[in-house]
Amino acid sequence: MTAQTPKTVKQKPINIRALAAKCCYSVIDQGRSLGDELPKQQDKVAAKDKGLLQEICYGVLRYLPELEHDVRGLMQKPLTGKQRVFHFLLLVGVYQIKYMRIPDHAAVSETVAATDALKNRHMKSLINGVLRNFVRASENNNQNNSQEILPDALKYNHPGWFIKKVQQGYPEQWQQILSANQQKPPMWLRANQLHHTSADYQNLLATAEISISSIEPLSHAIELSRPCDVTKLPGFEQGWISVQDGAAQQAARLLDCQRGDIVLDCCAAPGGKTCHILEQTPDIASMTAIDVEASRLVRVEENLTRLGLTAQVITADAANSKTWWQGELFDRILLDAPCSGTGVIRRHPDIKWLRKASDIDALVKLQQQILKETWSLLKPGGTLLYATCSVLSEENSEQIKYFIENNSDAKLLNIDCAENESNETIGWQLLPGEKNMDGFYYAKLLKIKT
Ligand SMILES: C[S@@+](CC[C@H](N)C(=O)[O-])C[C@H]1O[C@@H](n2cnc3c(N)ncnc32)[C@H](O)[C@@H]1O
Repeated sequence: MTAQTPKTVKQKPINIRALAAKCCYSVIDQGRSLGDELPKQQDKVAAKDKGLLQEICYGVLRYLPELEHDVRGLMQKPLTGKQRVFHFLLLVGVYQIKYMRIPDHAAVSETVAATDALKNRHMKSLINGVLRNFVRASENNNQNNSQEILPDALKYNHPGWFIKKVQQGYPEQWQQILSANQQKPPMWLRANQLHHTSADYQNLLATAEISISSIEPLSHAIELSRPCDVTKLPGFEQGWISVQDGAAQQAARLLDCQRGDIVLDCCAAPGGKTCHILEQTPDIASMTAIDVEASRLVRVEENLTRLGLTAQVITADAANSKTWWQGELFDRILLDAPCSGTGVIRRHPDIKWLRKASDIDALVKLQQQILKETWSLLKPGGTLLYATCSVLSEENSEQIKYFIENNSDAKLLNIDCAENESNETIGWQLLPGEKNMDGFYYAKLLKIKT
């Protein structure tokens, strides 16, 4: 018998820049969410490269108008149709040169090499030429110190409609908000009170040499000095700790559930706030967690399991209780409403490009419907906490003002918190970056006993 020579399987080259270009193409040209697309591309690379891929994708989406402007100035005509992915590859290249600590020559050569992975070698010389010209042009610009006057969308790297809304809503703070949206977000933790106090968990972090930059005293949220992989956090798998922004951690505190309460979290996925409420008040009578998206409820189940908590999890439309409500009124309701997400742009830069001005009216209507429906499920004497991660007053103070004006049994409760310094008179508007937290809105409503 003759020995058979094993067939050589040709491995497809993995190139981080090519994957980043594909990811940005899916988000911008195909309207897909970064939260869905990035993990798909990250699955293809080694653990050590996931961070780099993430940094490039986030960076391109943070600085999209500016990078497109840079590239436009160096091209005779834009790349269209099947060549669009190479348009994003150019943005990937320019982002690295402008904003990353990768030497220019390495950024150019790695990006040019991506043309092999994207199976279009004809693009090699174009990508190479444009990026080299960009390096040369930026060296000259540095010397000239040119002060080009830029339109706002380009200057602030946000869509024009959103800049106008923020300018109108926050005449004093609009630049601060836009600038906070461009920052890399911090990592906040929530110690599971069923296992450790916040102080005890801080000691565990110190032993693990993970440093803390601040603590939010009202909710006990812990901010890390630097984001780290969750697997490095003491007891993550055992459910001692969760990752949750400090602003989101205000919900459980403000809802203030009591022993024996029947609680509804009506827009619950992925379950951060459901779990926090259960950790804070394990002696409530029941927690019903509903969400309209079954696929997102899988995350709720996973979080409950990891943290050793129990809730009744139901896929249902909160705007139509006939399909799921079992006839018992609730003492406390958390309505963390579907919203524009304009308070969490620093965590999801794709929101700037996927969210359109025309979406806002539909969101406001949906919030109004869910609010009306869930209010009918609240016991007289019970409280409903309305929350969004938006900075737009239509979704926040105006929404609640309209609700109170049209429901005589609704009374706005004071949100007793020292930080309530914003101009909002109805509810509590946290602006992005305030205390290093996400932008959030809270309003607490009491159902008056009649
Ligand atoms: C802001 S997120 C909730 C985040 C969650 N409370 C947490 O802390 O992890 C809003 C959620 O509302 C859900 N949603 C949207 N429309 C809904 C509806 N009509 N009924 C129930 N849930 C809905 C979305 O699927 C999404 O998961």
